[in-house]
Amino acid sequence: MIGQALNRVDGPLKVAGQATYAYEQWGAGQPLYGFIVGATIGKGRITRIDTENAERAPGVKMVMTHHNAPAQGVRDESIPFEYWRAQPVLTGPDVHYYGEPVALAVATTLEGARAAADLVEVEYTGGRGRFNFAEQEDEVYIPKVVNAGLPTDTAVGDFDAGFDSAAVKVDQLYTTPYELSMPMEPHACLVEPRDEDLTVYVSCQIVDAARASVAATLRLDPERVHIVTPFVGGGFGSKLGIHSETILAALAARELRQPVKVAMTRQQIFQLVGNRPTTSQRVRLGAEQDGRLSAIAHDVTMHTNPDVEYAEQTAATTRSLYAAPHRLTSHRLAPLDLPPGTDVRAPGEAPGMLAVESAMDELAHAIGMDPVELRILNEPTVDPERDVPYSDRHLVDCLRDGARRFGWEHRPGTPASVRDGRWLVGYGMSAAIRGHFQGPTAVRVRLEADGTAVVQTDMTDLGTGTYTVLTQVAAEGLGLPPDRVRIELGRSEFPTSWGSGGSWGAASSCNAVHGACMTLREQLLAAARGDTRSPLHGLDPADAVFSDGNVVVGRASEALSEIVARNHPEGFEAEGGTRFMGDDPNYTDYSINTYGAHFAEVGVDADTAEIRLRRMLGVFSVGRVLNAKTARSQLIGGMIWGAGAALEEEAVVDLRTGAFVNRDFAQYLVPVHADIPDVEAVILDGYDDKANVLGAKGVGELGICGAGASIANAVFNATGVRVRDFPITIEKVL
Ligand code: MOS
Repeated sequence: MIGQALNRVDGPLKVAGQATYAYEQWGAGQPLYGFIVGATIGKGRITRIDTENAERAPGVKMVMTHHNAPAQGVRDESIPFEYWRAQPVLTGPDVHYYGEPVALAVATTLEGARAAADLVEVEYTGGRGRFNFAEQEDEVYIPKVVNAGLPTDTAVGDFDAGFDSAAVKVDQLYTTPYELSMPMEPHACLVEPRDEDLTVYVSCQIVDAARASVAATLRLDPERVHIVTPFVGGGFGSKLGIHSETILAALAARELRQPVKVAMTRQQIFQLVGNRPTTSQRVRLGAEQDGRLSAIAHDVTMHTNPDVEYAEQTAATTRSLYAAPHRLTSHRLAPLDLPPGTDVRAPGEAPGMLAVESAMDELAHAIGMDPVELRILNEPTVDPERDVPYSDRHLVDCLRDGARRFGWEHRPGTPASVRDGRWLVGYGMSAAIRGHFQGPTAVRVRLEADGTAVVQTDMTDLGTGTYTVLTQVAAEGLGLPPDRVRIELGRSEFPTSWGSGGSWGAASSCNAVHGACMTLREQLLAAARGDTRSPLHGLDPADAVFSDGNVVVGRASEALSEIVARNHPEGFEAEGGTRFMGDDPNYTDYSINTYGAHFAEVGVDADTAEIRLRRMLGVFSVGRVLNAKTARSQLIGGMIWGAGAALEEEAVVDLRTGAFVNRDFAQYLVPVHADIPDVEAVILDGYDDKANVLGAKGVGELGICGAGASIANAVFNATGVRVRDFPITIEKVL
């Protein structure tokens, strides 16, 4: 079962409209609707806020501002992860960034709430803030920590000496813009109060974090907060934590003693759920004439909001990618009065690899070497900064296999040398690497008397396929057909997981399910063996095979349902768990990553510089694949996002107000079908025995890593023009 391309078990519910998302929940009764009023300045202070007209509007139940908002808990920086901290709203008259909530209008209808929100009158002082990244780059400071607990800076050998004495040098600055997650399902919730309890139907990635954050903000016992999130329409990092819509709905629901729904508009999402920081990245590569790297430096500056420090791990994978004796990485923050930065799919690795893998292409060109061969030549034998072995590194296999499949030998040897009609044609490639993470995850598996297995965990399915891969692991673990497995996710009363994020979700939860199934097997075998009524009585369980709902030992066999019905009619139950990677010595003793190689072909119009993708291929090594179809979908989705990062995506800051000016899908460009050619993702067979028992590693964020660089390098190969300021738009190529 594991690895097969099983169709999504939740697919029929989704296409039939029966998968109920947060805002579609009805709860126990007619809800009220809240609408957020956002600040129209980027920095300053509210001098007057008048809610009288809004309160008199039809159907309005309440207008909440900083004057009447209940007192809330404060962000506690001693809690290790941001997403578990309080997220207080309407705490005072100060405005910290454009669009920050200044009021919530609550009415009996959505239209009434929205109309009332328009009637809230707000006056401000100030308005001028630090909005321009280019001007703030001198104000940089060292972050306390880089995301995921990684060190801010590393140094190995003597970079300056190594770089100075290198025969060939690349020293370039690359810049990447603000980008946003933008899941299809908006950030939305329904909060239902009952006595002292709150049931929160919310679109989120980590149920435990949502519960902790709501409880800390509203100063409630976490046991009183019940999170329900059976289906999530994408997150990409923006739903790792909860946001103002949930806190505002919860505050209003408690005040009004009625259910309250709040959803963000698409424009509000652009301002209120965090964004990928803009970066400027200096990459220095020093090499011998034969291409052997002697020195690598990757120095990153990115923006942060001063109140909520966030540093993407932009240079972190550079530490493990290529061999070189002299090395340097650093992360710096430039404070800006913009919405706090947050995790966006492959945080850091995505913009970081755009820079480093462009620089590697520049080095290959400077030396006159095939860029695939340059990477193979610099393949390390151990992790060059941590000085530990790799668990299961197949980067070279990905590079060679990809080059062969793509027909890399047909690459135009000289830039701007191949034409197809009006198109200049170019090939580009890039390596990919991403760290593998695992989180503490608990699951419960119960085998019921009818032979059905029920798996419960507060894990989420963001559309990634969690329901499906857990079905496969449980089916294989207990020898059941997949339709005898029922997966129940996304409720805080279920055992606690680390949710979906950082590509840790599938491996963490699948290994926990596998463990629970192995415990259940032992329980079932012990029961059957000791039961004189069982055909398996007294037989050696070491020979037992679980298959098609039966336990088979030699010629004897018994249905699981019978063992359950006779011994434990209420069902056999077992818990399983996956440890936090920091508590697993393998994660200290080995460098555990996933790998890939991207290849792209582009055509660039010789007159207009219009760039069209012609082909994309990724070859990946991710350990054992849990489901060939969902894994491929994840990888292709990442590659397409990489195409967006290379060519289209950019949130532009209005330097007068600190607002993102292009805050809708008409102006914030992401790839559409017409932009995307044949995309293929190939996954090499694998098994990483250091990562976990199942040998599976994260997939979700690998596809975007390096994908954009392969396109940028193809644009150079097509035109001879190197663009280092992403996205690569027409005017930069002309
Ligand atoms: Mo991911 S950016 O950790 O959802």
